[in-house]
Amino acid sequence: MSTSSYEKPDFWSQKAKKEGYPARSVYKLEEIDSKFRLFKPGLKVLDIGAAPGSWSLWVLKKLAGSGFLVAVDLQPLAISPPYGNFFFIQGDLYAEKVRAELLARGPYGLVLSDAAPATTGNRIVDQGASESIVEAVIAYGLETLAPGGALVAKIFQGGAERPLLDQLRKRFATAKAFKPQACRQESFETYLVATGFKP
Ligand SMILES: C[S@@+](CC[C@H](N)C(=O)[O-])C[C@H]1O[C@@H](n2cnc3c(N)ncnc32)[C@H](O)[C@@H]1O
Repeated sequence: MSTSSYEKPDFWSQKAKKEGYPARSVYKLEEIDSKFRLFKPGLKVLDIGAAPGSWSLWVLKKLAGSGFLVAVDLQPLAISPPYGNFFFIQGDLYAEKVRAELLARGPYGLVLSDAAPATTGNRIVDQGASESIVEAVIAYGLETLAPGGALVAKIFQGGAERPLLDQLRKRFATAKAFKPQACRQESFETYLVATGFKP
């Protein structure tokens, strides 16, 4: 069976390098946006688990100086933001101080999370850690999203996607799991995408 160039392991990394993004993950967000149309000018966005910064850079280019982006990660970013409508907090999404800062800068029209735990190789442990992150991201969304807002959260497949989608469906008009083609073939990640927040 032939392998298309899109499936070659380094296709997306090389494209990201050529286009000035520090990580290939940017193309996952691009695909999610082309399917769900999440962005509009003037949007205020929260990017959780933002380092090294490909999603943040893409969001800033998409907003083109309008709206605002707040990003958070344990690690520093490796990007030079092209516009000033940006604030980065280096810290733990679970920390009370970080939580207070993120909430104080809301409400947001879009909460994004590509956050992933450091993997241990034990799939059950890794799924559990990913699920805890998604629960925390949903809690942020429920507290800080503006009416009609949207939420995107990466989760490791095989654990709690179904109950989390059911939970999201109670507070959003739609909630679906979506796996972009730019995810590595062998990866077991997917994205929960919820739109139309009902406060
Ligand atoms: C796959 S990377 C994100 C890539 C990013 N979206 C990009 O495009 O550059 C996952 C990130 O989640 C972050 N992360 C994991 N747990 C976190 C936590 N508790 N608080 C903040 N960030 C966390 C990691 O530090 C890591 O940088």
